[in-house]
Amino acid sequence: MSSLAIVHSRAQVGIQALPVTIEVHLTNGLPRLSIVGLPETAVRESQDRVRSAIINSQFEFPLQRITINLAPADLPKEGGRFDLAIALGILAASRQIPKEELSQYEFLGELALNGNLRPVRGILPMALEARKAQRYVVVPIENASEAAMVSGVSILPIKTLLDICSHLQQVDSITPYCSEETPNPTVLNHISDLSDVRGQHHAKRALEVAAAGGHNLLMLGPPGTGKTMLASRMPGILPPMTEDESLATATIASIAVGGFDASIWGIRPFRTPHHTASGVALVGGGSHPRPGEISLAHNGILFLDELPEFDKRVLEVLREPLESGRITISRAAQQAEFPANFQLIAAMNPCPCGYLGDPSNRCQCSPHQVARYRSRISGPLLDRIDLHIEVPNLPRIELRKDTVRTSSAEVRVRVIMAREKQLERTNKANNLLSNQEIERVCVLNENDEQLLDSAIERLGLSARAWYRILKVARTIADLDDSEAIQTSHLTEAITYRQLERNKH
Ligand SMILES: Nc1ncnc2c1ncn2[C@@H]1O[C@H](COP(=O)(O)OP(=O)(O)OP(=O)(O)O)[C@@H](O)[C@H]1O
Ligand SMILES: [Mg+2]
Ligand SMILES: [Zn+2]
Repeated sequence: MSSLAIVHSRAQVGIQALPVTIEVHLTNGLPRLSIVGLPETAVRESQDRVRSAIINSQFEFPLQRITINLAPADLPKEGGRFDLAIALGILAASRQIPKEELSQYEFLGELALNGNLRPVRGILPMALEARKAQRYVVVPIENASEAAMVSGVSILPIKTLLDICSHLQQVDSITPYCSEETPNPTVLNHISDLSDVRGQHHAKRALEVAAAGGHNLLMLGPPGTGKTMLASRMPGILPPMTEDESLATATIASIAVGGFDASIWGIRPFRTPHHTASGVALVGGGSHPRPGEISLAHNGILFLDELPEFDKRVLEVLREPLESGRITISRAAQQAEFPANFQLIAAMNPCPCGYLGDPSNRCQCSPHQVARYRSRISGPLLDRIDLHIEVPNLPRIELRKDTVRTSSAEVRVRVIMAREKQLERTNKANNLLSNQEIERVCVLNENDEQLLDSAIERLGLSARAWYRILKVARTIADLDDSEAIQTSHLTEAITYRQLERNKH
């Protein structure tokens, strides 16, 4: 006598949740359990958990030959995420629960030995796919709020294996999960305010331009002038996220080590990795590639404070995502691609001691030391940073004088208006414009074209810089509510590249 049951679940590959079918086949013969379909150690360990969970839930573990096939075989399958589906497959094949209705569900969850469910990662992308497949989603109760971020899908949260068995046996049905409240993305109260920063108007203006168009920004200046302070004010002036952006960003968090956090739904990420962070932590990786900081910063900010202290090789890796908005991670076992459309904000001192150019003349660094320090940041990386600004040491008097200061809320209103114009025009932030789009929407008059050409030549900038200056000029015009890019907009955009020349 033989019997077959089929259960649906999903594997995690990059940010995708790919379908996995668990086929459980029972035949008479010596009791033995084998799992095929290239399972890894973790899946093999799941045998023991599944067996204990079934017995501890007062079911019988069939004394037959059990063959479990996880298909397709070439998908990577990790962790205990298939425990629940495997256990239900065994119970259905041995007719302890009905198997007819299983096809309407997708299951994800790790089992504890006592039959309780443990949360797993990657619920959000799974729920999105389950919605397309029009199936119910059965997940550990801890994962329910994450699954509920996807509207139009029925989520059945469970605490134990027995919960779902009773439901399938129609003994005790589970009430679909309803989220208590929709998260409010405008809660920004905890973020520090721009009005705390005295002086540094040039830097604040650059911050506003960067926020409005999603442009990258580098701040250069001696210690204690407010660089870190300014950068930490960015989240408070950024435009709100669209629904699609929120979903894409939350999906990455969902599969990352830290996991999904509903309380930050709709708030642009602000990631501040330390310079001692490993390459894998920053760009992603591992044998089952996980997203790194640059992907967790997707649709938000990656703040690299003390830029030259970062591993030079890691900084070079940033070049690709800064251009394409994605990162490809290749490992022997598999290749994964993660979105990484982050806005880079970086800060650094002008020299190893920090005081080069300071009126106090206290810098003792040799030109060679300065050159070596600067060379940690390559030309191609600098080329991708649209706004370079100096944050100088200001006399105390001047700081004290600065009593009426703009708040983050005021700046944010202007940023939102400028961003809306961009979305209307091209459906994206100016930073994401392609070269063709730039040629279409960043048109200069003849004089200004010559002005730009000669500036490019004078500053020794690349063709890439040419396009990037035009994007920044577009944003400055948008902040000025002007459809045409005027000379003043262009010249301001050019001033943000002046510093670069001194750097090589
Ligand atoms: N413009 C400013 N307005 C108000 N406070 C300031 C300003 N600049 C610096 N401060 C004060 O000095 C402290 C140090 O500033 P911050 O950490 O931003 O400096 P930094 O430029 O990042 O220095 P470093 O190069 O050493 O990292 C701040 O916490 C703040 O109290
Ligand atoms: Mg600092
Ligand atoms: Zn110095």
